[in-house]
Amino acid sequence: MLKVICVCGARPNFMKIAPLMEAFARTGKVHAVLVHTGQHYDERMSQLFFRDLGIPEPEINLEVGSGSHASQTAEIIRRFEPVVLEHRPDWVLVVGDVNSTIACALVAVKLGVKVAHVEAGLRSFDRGMPEEINRLLTDAISDLLLVSEPSGVENLRREGVDPAKVHFVGNVMIDTLMKNRERANASSILGELGLSPKKYAVVTLHRPSNVDHPRALGSILDAFEQIARDMEIVFPMHPRTRKNVEVMGLGERMERIRGLKTPEPLGYLDFLKLTADSALVLTDSGGIQEETTILGVPCLTLRENTERPVTISEGTNRLCKPEAASILQAYREQRTNGTISTRRPALWDGKAAERIAEIFVKLAGG
Ligand code: UD1
Repeated sequence: MLKVICVCGARPNFMKIAPLMEAFARTGKVHAVLVHTGQHYDERMSQLFFRDLGIPEPEINLEVGSGSHASQTAEIIRRFEPVVLEHRPDWVLVVGDVNSTIACALVAVKLGVKVAHVEAGLRSFDRGMPEEINRLLTDAISDLLLVSEPSGVENLRREGVDPAKVHFVGNVMIDTLMKNRERANASSILGELGLSPKKYAVVTLHRPSNVDHPRALGSILDAFEQIARDMEIVFPMHPRTRKNVEVMGLGERMERIRGLKTPEPLGYLDFLKLTADSALVLTDSGGIQEETTILGVPCLTLRENTERPVTISEGTNRLCKPEAASILQAYREQRTNGTISTRRPALWDGKAAERIAEIFVKLAGG
């Protein structure tokens, strides 16, 4: 039996780890041990997702909590090392691009344990993003690079990675979306928030470049103020964003925008329903660019770049400078002549975790 420690830590990791834990269990040949670093720890940023997605309780929770990038990463490294020493896994599997991803990969490789990276090869080419640093470093020390879209294969080739390590397997996040689409449909979130299908926009924002500076966030709010005259906006606020809004004294201004609702972060099923029934999504998230592509909902990504170009070439995504004038222009263009592609990126078919499990079964010798 191959022993694989599977690591999750922050909200965007949970929907990726869920189908992998299931697929490994089905093989009967891979013993997957789930470790939660505790990077995200709130009921609404963590536990809710375990319940919604039926993820097994982690065997180990490192309970690192929040901190600066250096201290959070260091604390994960310090607490994960004894776990690897005790469990002696054949592999450590990490997903995505958060601090938990690089921290645990680094511990494993230094103890001579092989590392598998799910969602390898994505590049925004913007080293000002902490996630880009995490992606570059994790890929550089991984033995198995499991890629979600063609750009990832190309980026790794350009970086000189041995092609034997690289497998284009598709997108595990879409496995979770497809599996839960029907259950999400039963969510009562629209009624709870007083919304009608296709008559509202969904917003999510948490990137430091958008929410850490009053000028940047203020300009985005200028655009929301205009859009909210047209259609309601639902903005489930990330804890980091809510904290910054308070510190910057923007809370009152937001409350004055009629038609803007700012509920607490939602669980997976509620958020999926909210997104699927929306007219438009405005976001700076990575994963939501992918989800809207599969849901066929137009997405304006309020960033200068994306590490997920397939969502633009094959999907519903469009990049938009995070400033009032650009957001409003993109919004109006979308409203007047938005055509929606119904294409689906290759291998975003609900079977990515299965493909990954098969690779591990082969590694186990059969
Ligand atoms: C992290 C990831 C980012 C991911 C995002 C999704 C890194 C470098 N960043 O960013 O890639 O897109 O998660 O959510 O790993 N907080 C809470 N409760 C929690 C977790 C955090 O209140 O459960 C607060 C913290 O106190 C902190 C802030 O939110 O002030 C930021 O949390 P942190 O995990 O450090 O980074 P994110 O901005 O969430």
